[in-house]
Parts: sequence; C-alpha cells; structure tokens
Amino acid sequence: MSDGRHRNPWFVIAMLGAMCAAGFSTPAQSAQTGAQSASDTCPETDSGLKLPAGFCATIFADGIGHARHLVVAANGVVYVNTWSGRYYGNDTPHAGGFLVALQDTTGAGKANVNNRFGETVQSGGAGGTGIGLYKGGLFAEINDKIVRYTLPAGSIVPQGPAVPIVTGLPLGGDHPMRPFLIDRDGSLYIDLATATNSCQGQNRTLHSPGIDPCTELNTRGGIWRYDANERNQAFSPAERFATGIRNAEGFAIDAADRIFVTQHGRDQLYANWPERYKPEEEATQPAEELLLLKRGGDYGWPECYYDAIQGRLVLAPEYGGDGGKKVGPCATKSAPIASFPAHWAPNAMALYDKSQFPAHYRHGVFIALHGSWDRAPYRQGGYNVVFQALAGDHASGQCEIFADGFAGAVESPDQAAHRPSGVAVGPDGSLYVSDDVRGRIYRIVYRGGPGADSAATRTPCPSATAPAGKVSVDDAKPPEGTHPNAGAADATASLPVPVGATKEMVALGDRVYHGEVGGAPCTGCHGANATGTPLGPDLTGTHWLWGDGSYAAIAKIISAGVPQPKQYRAPMPPMGGAQLTSDQVSAVAAYIWALSHRAP
Ligand code: HEC
Repeated sequence: MSDGRHRNPWFVIAMLGAMCAAGFSTPAQSAQTGAQSASDTCPETDSGLKLPAGFCATIFADGIGHARHLVVAANGVVYVNTWSGRYYGNDTPHAGGFLVALQDTTGAGKANVNNRFGETVQSGGAGGTGIGLYKGGLFAEINDKIVRYTLPAGSIVPQGPAVPIVTGLPLGGDHPMRPFLIDRDGSLYIDLATATNSCQGQNRTLHSPGIDPCTELNTRGGIWRYDANERNQAFSPAERFATGIRNAEGFAIDAADRIFVTQHGRDQLYANWPERYKPEEEATQPAEELLLLKRGGDYGWPECYYDAIQGRLVLAPEYGGDGGKKVGPCATKSAPIASFPAHWAPNAMALYDKSQFPAHYRHGVFIALHGSWDRAPYRQGGYNVVFQALAGDHASGQCEIFADGFAGAVESPDQAAHRPSGVAVGPDGSLYVSDDVRGRIYRIVYRGGPGADSAATRTPCPSATAPAGKVSVDDAKPPEGTHPNAGAADATASLPVPVGATKEMVALGDRVYHGEVGGAPCTGCHGANATGTPLGPDLTGTHWLWGDGSYAAIAKIISAGVPQPKQYRAPMPPMGGAQLTSDQVSAVAAYIWALSHRAP
C-alpha cells in the first residue's frame, strides 16, 4: 500500500542490485485495459478514462485541492473533503475551507457551482479524508476530530459552526487519516489505522521484531464505533468495534446493513526480512483485502497477512513467520471475502445499488485504488477503479478493472497525473471518483449503445499468481515524505521552557507528542491533552511515578520506556514504540516538562 514513509536504505541497495540483475526496461507504460473509448456514444467526454463500452466520463470539477473522500446528497450536491500536509510534500493548501460543495445546475455533467467551507489553514485546519451525510448533517474528519455541520434548507453549505462529535482521535505515524461510515441507525464507524507498518519495535526497520502483544492495537489498527447523534464523545480505547485491521480506508454498507471494509496489506516483506522473502514476493504479497466487518472481529494485523496464492492468512515474519508457510494463531483470525493485487491501495469504496448502470453492477462495490509504491523496482499497479461483484456476504468472482487511465503515461506515486482516492454513487446512479493529486472529480455515467454491457468489454483484474512483471527504471518512493503537517497550530507559545531547551524545542515536542512528527503514539496512552487514559498516567501534574520530574529524568524515561509499570497494566515501549531521533526525544521531554510546569 502507498501510505508508508520510511524507506530502509538496505532496501534501496538491494533493489538496485535486483534491477541490475534483471536488466533495465523502458519506463512502465500505463496498463491498458483493452476497453475501447466510445467517442460516438460519449460526445461530451473529456476525461481520458478507459471504461467498458457504454460508459462515459466527464471532468465534473478540477483543481479543488487534494481531494479525498466524497459523498453525494439527495439533491445531487457533491461534498468533498480535501487534505494537506506531508502526504503532499507540505505544498500550499488550496485557499479557503478544506471542504468543498460542488453542484451542476445546468445538467452538463460539470459543476458550475463550487463553494468552499469549513476549517482553513488560518483557523488551524489541515483538512482530512472522511466525509459523510446523516440526518441533515454533513460530517467530516477535521484534524483529530469528526465534526458535524447542519445543512440548512435552501443552502448547499452550512451557515453555523461545526459541532464536535468525536474528539482526540489518535493521529500521526504512517496512517494519519480517519475515514468513516454512518449507518441508518447513526452508528459512526471510524477507521483508526495503524501508526506502524507491522508493529515492529522500530517501524520499517530491518529485522526489528514485532512488539508482543502489539500495544498499538489498544488505540489503533481497527474500527471504533461512536454515535453520530451525540456531541463531544472523547476517543477512548473502550469503543473498539473490531481489531486487527491495518488500514480500512474504504467502507460500504448494503441493504441488509452488512458493512464491508477494504484493507491495505502490510509492506516491506523483503526489505525487512530479506532472508525469508524474495524481492518479487514483496512486490506481489500480501494481497489487499475486502473484509466483512463483524463486531469483535479480529482480522489478523500485525501477526498475520493474507497470501492470495495460498488463499489464507499466514504468520508475519515479525511474529515468527517463516516466509509464508507457518500459520500459527492466524488460523483463528478472519480472512477476507475478496482480495486484490498487492499494494494497489484500496482507498475508498462505494456499493452500487442504483439502476442507471446495467444489472451486472448492482449489489457490487466500486473500489478506488490509489496505486502502489511497494511493487518497486517492478512496474507499479492500481491507479484505477475496480468493480467487485457481491452475492450476499460473499464475493462473486474476481474483480474487474472498471475505470483506468487516471495516472497518464507512468503509474508511480511521483509521476501519476491523477490518483483515485474517493468514490461515491449519486442519487441518479452516476459514479463520482476523486483524485488527490490535482483535485479532479470525475463523473461516470452509463449511456449504452453498440456493444455496451457485453462481457467482452470488461477487463478482469490480474490474478493473484500474476508475476511481478517488468523491472522498471522508475524506482517509486512513498509519496508522503517525513515532513511535519502543514497548518499545525502553534499551541505552545505560552508554555514555560526548561533550562537547556528552547521555545522551538517545546513546539517541536508538541508535534512529536501528537504524532505529527516521528510517529510516536503518545496520545494513544496518555491522551490528547496528556492528562492520562486507562493505558497511561497523567503527565501534566506534579506527582511522578518515575524520576523527579526534572527535564533530564523525563527525557530518560521517554527513551527507556517502562517495561514494568507501577500502576498500569501494559508496558510503555521505549519512545512509545516509535523510532525517535535524540532531538525528538529532547523536544518531547521539553514539552512534557512544560505541560507539568505551567503557571497554575
Ligand atoms: C502503550 C502505551 C504508552 C505509550 C504509547 C506511551 N506511554 Fe508513556 N507511559 C505508559 C505507561 C504504562 C507508563 C508507566 C506507568 C506506571 O509506571 O505505572 C508511562 C510513563 C511515562 C512517563 C513517566 C510518567 C511518570 O509519572 O513518571 C512519561 C514522561 C511518559 N510515559 C511519556 C511518554 C511519551 C512522551 C510518549 C510518546 C513518545 C509515551 N509516553 C508513550 C504508557 C505509554
């Protein structure tokens, strides 16, 4: 999947070796789907997408910022959440609010109304991924919150301020996005994706074993359930609904209220465990997954990953796996109902339950695949929208590539012109797809015509046993880099500074503590305000369990962790389980010292 950050230098060296051994080829060209362009049926088409015969796509909107998830209201207004920060190299966010309302009042297949609202950079916002509609309210992920805006009758944008619904969601690390789904009863299911790739003591590091038990699972790596009707619910570990899900970015719900989620499989099997895997196995394993969400379900992360060739969950190398043969505890975890090629990155999903598209598409899901980086040095994959048919709670057959050609000439995180990141179905049955590179929104409709709706124009997904493919000279890197979040508010200006530190260190420490730098999950155990949770003590008072509360003593305990807590049941791993630099440890210690020495 595409959301990892830390590329191990050994991996790069090994990859260069593999590239030399296999010989260079020309840059990978975008995979052709074989579907024909249908300019006769689609005179207005301008999107360049490849679709099955009978379908047409227009550019509904463009350049709206890093567009993530989208929803379409009953009146046809398309609402999009946009994001900013290190995933986009900290480029300058689009001016105005991070939320966008788009409307086509002329029927041309293009939004002629484009209104922005919600938090801005100036108000401390950084945008987000999740967005949803429920009972006249627009719900959106904004920084560490899910908020609700009331949409007044006669206006497509809210007039009043947002009301917080859930606050203090853990952020930071590899997956700081919080997509969600609201069901008809108002249950709000939030994806709290993992901070790490595979719960290693040192994230994405050669031979670093898995933390056992994986303490991250207390606060992340699963789905948490809240009530969309209630305000100010503070995040806590207690509302966990299902566990062992590394990153469930796509949600769909069917008429029988079954909830499906997509799962991004882990990365770097070969990079971190070169004795147990071949480079091509990292490119082709593990599969991306489609899960049927069940209360109390355990889908296996981090101990297990899904090997699509064997069709089962197998033990991960961090937990004693031997390269894909041992199963161990994975025998009791829930396997997916469908799988997709490795690292294609299923970022969003929508169930199709309308009648505009042919019957073939009803009761299946469309999945937006953001596209891979971890298939390097082989040709990357994904960067498309697939359709997976469902039969009740099962998948029906293999997926099909429905829409392709988003990336342009080269499918890689750096060079893709557009990457699918959201998908939604409109009330008239049109399908909308968002792109988080250039902020394009596509609208796909069915027009029929010659050859339409024939199986011959549908393109099956590659099989799980397809080889890694050609070595490409394009050694794609994870797209997000390691920069702190753009737009993070400076909340530390009024804090005291310990002797030996600076104001800048306290400010950096704030970002480290909140997981925006360094990926440490401090908030998960000590709370967003450091006032404690059932998993870790209050750090803002004058009473210390360890040391004398001096700057040096605080730094020491953060580096060393607490293997045997005095009052809490699970240990604190060194640096909270992340791999902080010594500057980051000093900074976060200065921040904790400052919190506990505030003027009363
Ligand atoms: C997995 C949960 C967890 C995480 C993550 C975590 N801690 Fe802790 N922390 C604890 C526990 C448990 C203790 C010890 C409580 C005890 O001894 O009873 C502790 C103790 C501490 C102490 C000493 C408190 C005292 O009273 O002496 C400090 C300081 C601290 N943590 C800071 C941090 C910072 C900063 C981070 C992030 C870099 C972090 N912790 C991450 C669980 C955690």
